[in-house]
Formats: sequence, structure tokens, C-alpha cells
Amino acid sequence: MRTIIEPFRIKMTEALPITTRGAREGHLAKAFNNVFLLDADHVTIDLLTDSGTGAMSDRQWSALMLGDESYAGSRSWRRFEQTVRDITGFKHIFPTHQGRAAERILAATRLKAGNVIPNNGHFDTTRANIEYVGAVATDLQSAAARDLQSEKLFKGNMDLDRLAQAIEAEGANIPFCMITVTNNAGGGQPVSMENIRRVKELLETHNIPLILDACRFAENAFFIKEREQGFVDRSLLKAPSNRMAWDMPRLPTSADDVHVAPAACVAILAGFAHGAGFRIPPMPLIPTNCAKQGETS
Ligand SMILES: Cc1ncc(COP(=O)(O)O)c(C=O)c1O
Repeated sequence: MRTIIEPFRIKMTEALPITTRGAREGHLAKAFNNVFLLDADHVTIDLLTDSGTGAMSDRQWSALMLGDESYAGSRSWRRFEQTVRDITGFKHIFPTHQGRAAERILAATRLKAGNVIPNNGHFDTTRANIEYVGAVATDLQSAAARDLQSEKLFKGNMDLDRLAQAIEAEGANIPFCMITVTNNAGGGQPVSMENIRRVKELLETHNIPLILDACRFAENAFFIKEREQGFVDRSLLKAPSNRMAWDMPRLPTSADDVHVAPAACVAILAGFAHGAGFRIPPMPLIPTNCAKQGETS
């Protein structure tokens, strides 16, 4: 059901530091205008990130108490693992505490200096992890993304021509290519299934694996369902074709036919935890709520 208001009531508040323009200017100058150097106590409205800024629901908070933090064999982990498996079809689930940790593992194990990693838009931590090992992170977002007046529906798409050029120029130097859904560094714009399919087709002809940073896969799936022909009647998360084999996993949305290399698992799952917007330790409701939201949207 659509509502014109947010269909929830907020029942906890957190005091914000109230600042003056003069004080803000002073703090910014001291931080050399680098917002990462500011003290959070000096920021009233924090627009740096949406990470960790969402409020949790009463059900999520109460789930904290139900979380099983056993050192091994935790039932919360089993639930988490099963839900992620249901959505992605992956056999091997490898949780990390945050997306950036998964990126670090990916970069450390798959990249070497001089490699080139194309992406529709590298998130800043993704770029940092790639550059840390001496590889090159290349953004190939479609031109529409740079046109603020453009009302194109999928401005997060990869520019296929530029990707083809990058492959031609770098070829064997590209150990994998990435797609980030939604394209956070590019204004959070969604990526169409058509675009993802075409990227995958192009990569397949060159034997290059595709890694999905599926940080906001549920939101991207929602946009696909809303805006792309052929998806309106599809379930966001439970299309049978989503059940993927480990050696050929697919995009964890309603859409099918997008095969991803095994290592995608790492990126996807961390993104999943992040995308759900929660802290990791009390795992029980993290994927469940996400799955429910996807189902009811
Ligand atoms: C697209 C994308 N990838 C990766 C990350 C990194 O995730 P985390 O903040 O969990 O380290 C983020 C965080 O916002 C993101 O938006």
C-alpha cells in the first residue's frame, strides 16, 4: 500500500549538537575543508554518508535481545546464512563486518599493482582498497549521470562503449569488472537489468568475471521493478531463477540471467549487511527484514 507519510512513528531521539555558522567555518578551516577530519560533535546535519544513519525499528531492536552470540554454531548465524542463501543462491556465505572489509579481502586476494578495475562508479572505500594495492579504479558511468537536468531512469548505468574501449586497451590486465547497485558514488542512481546483462555479455566474451557491489541491491531491484519493462509483476527477491549455483551465481534481484564470478560473493554479502543498514553482531533479523521488505514492495 502506498502512503503519503512515512508509515511509522519515531520513538527515540538523540540530541544533536547545535552549531553557529562562525563555529562551523572555524572547524572547517581547521580541518582544511576535509570533512573526514571534522569531529562529529561539530556537525549538526551530517550529509557525509547515509551509512549507519537509519533508525532501527522496534522489531529490530527487540531482535538484539534474541540474537545468539555463541562463539560457534550460533542460530543467528544460521538464519542469516540461510536468508542470504535464499536470496542469492550462493553456497558459500562469507560475512564481513562491513563492506570495506570485504573489499579489502577482494583487493588483497585478487589484485596486483597495475591491474585496472572498471566500475560504473567506485564507492570511495572500494576505490581506496583498489588503489592501496597499486591497482587503478576506473569509473565508467554513463554520460547521463553527469547531466543533472537529465531525467533518464537509469543514470547509474555503465557506459558500454567506454567499457569496450577499456577492455580493448587493458584486456588481460582486468582481473574483474564491477557494477555497483545502486551507483552510490554517482548520486545513488539505479542500474537497469538491461545494462547489467549487456555488461555481463561483453565481459563474458573476454572471460572477465563480474563482481557486484550489491550494497543496495534491494533498492536497485525496486527501481527495476518500477521502471523497467518486463519486471513489474516480478517478485523482488523470490524469482525461482534467482536460485544460483556457486560457480555461476546471479544478481540477487528479481531479475535473472546475470552470471557473476564466484568472488562476487564477498562483495555482495558485505554489501548486503551494509545495505540493510544495521550493525552486524545481533544478526537474527538483518536479512529477514530485508527479505520481507523486498517481498512486500
Ligand atoms: C556502494 C557501496 N559500496 C561499499 C560501501 C562500503 O560499505 P561499508 O560502509 O559497510 O564499509 C558502501 C557504503 O556506503 C557503499 O555505498
